[in-house]
Amino acid sequence: MILDHPTKFAHFLLDQAIRPGDVVIDATVGHGDDTLFLAERVADFGQVYGFEIQKEAIETCADRLTKANQANQANQVTLLNQGHERIITALPPELKVQAAIFSLGALSPDSFEHVTLPNTTISAYHQILSRLNRGGLLVFVVDPRFNETQEEIDYLIADLSRLEPTNYQVTHYKAINADQGQVLAIEKI
Ligand SMILES: C[S@@+](CC[C@H](N)C(=O)[O-])C[C@H]1O[C@@H](n2cnc3c(N)ncnc32)[C@H](O)[C@@H]1O
Repeated sequence: MILDHPTKFAHFLLDQAIRPGDVVIDATVGHGDDTLFLAERVADFGQVYGFEIQKEAIETCADRLTKANQANQANQVTLLNQGHERIITALPPELKVQAAIFSLGALSPDSFEHVTLPNTTISAYHQILSRLNRGGLLVFVVDPRFNETQEEIDYLIADLSRLEPTNYQVTHYKAINADQGQVLAIEKI
């Protein structure tokens, strides 16, 4: 399938932006699918910062990194059990970021206790933009199973539409004949 799952499409976009050695952020680690992808892309000498509020999820991700026999990559992945709304305080001062991903919603469609929220998502993405390189990319992925996230998407789109077009290109990818999830992408120009 060419027009694949939104996560695959988001990874395809990130692939265009990330080079070995880059610094990148996974703002919603969960079980670590995106973290593993990012760790592989930045290679041994890049860095991944991952944020997740659920301790068990962070532990699962750490186990997966180890089991994937990515010993070197485990060294360059910093997993933080804290909300992404405090991203800026967790990054070394002056550190520039090449790419970031938010996977919105919750870990599973029936566990909405730890769902992402509009205010914290918006605060976090502005913090990342303040550190994003020119040519850097920030993506939001919405899995089709998380319809409840639409309210968050609506807030997010309203905020994204106010970004200065001379500094940022913002794009929305969404099927128009089915509910197959969506991807929002910001490129700093
Ligand atoms: C859709 S899941 C992420 C899936 C993940 N990328 C994966 O590969 O498994 C969203 C995750 O965001 C986390 N989350 C919710 N609010 C958060 C916040 N303020 N900061 C960091 N993580 C948060 C949830 O605990 C949940 O694990």
